[in-house]
Amino acid sequence: MSTFATKLIHWQKLHGRNSLPWQNTRDPYAIWVSEIMLQQTQVATVVPYYLRFLHRFPDIESVASGSEDEVLALWSGLGYYSRGRNLHRAARLIAREQGGIFPRGLEIIQQLPGIGRSTAAAIAVFAYGEQCAILDGNVKRVFARCFGMDGYPGERKNEMLLWRKAEELLPEKNEQDQIGIYTQALMDLGATICTRAKPQCMTCPLRQECIALRDDHVNRLPAPRPR
Ligand code: ADE
Repeated sequence: MSTFATKLIHWQKLHGRNSLPWQNTRDPYAIWVSEIMLQQTQVATVVPYYLRFLHRFPDIESVASGSEDEVLALWSGLGYYSRGRNLHRAARLIAREQGGIFPRGLEIIQQLPGIGRSTAAAIAVFAYGEQCAILDGNVKRVFARCFGMDGYPGERKNEMLLWRKAEELLPEKNEQDQIGIYTQALMDLGATICTRAKPQCMTCPLRQECIALRDDHVNRLPAPRPR
């Protein structure tokens, strides 16, 4: 009988994505850029933008001394340009106030422009190995289905329940050194197996405990906005 985290870690090593250009680095700047680009944008779209961006702007200082227009030029085509503006603003802030050193600690990372709780947690996990829960749209769908949580996730009360679940499920002591693999597993499962349309339940590592699969509610969860 293995736990949720143990199953996901095992699955990630065998079936997860392991050679994306922002993996296998612990540079908080590189991870930050990737997580911002990956908000609302698929991996395949992000990859070439990410590589161009890191080539032109290899570190925080280079972004901070570049112009907003140049950042936005590299962002051109990715959409959601406020992400690029916030990144530039945050880089200047870090250059001016922290000597160009990206901060540690979930709470502090989360105070930077353009970085919400889940993005801050992803950076804290991948760059520093902090034990933080993530909860983006894909992960909400995984939890809603696996645990049969049928409230609309856009409602504050339901989102709070999802965050509580995300924290409960974090790896135990013996697997805390694998928090990065666990976190990547949740992202990979949501992006490749537990997809919104045509989920691949037969190959899911959680199929034996998934409430939505048991009750034939996979296509009804997460619940749509009530009307
Ligand atoms: N989506 C958000 N963060 C991601 C990451 N680190 N890898 C793949 N997809 C992601």
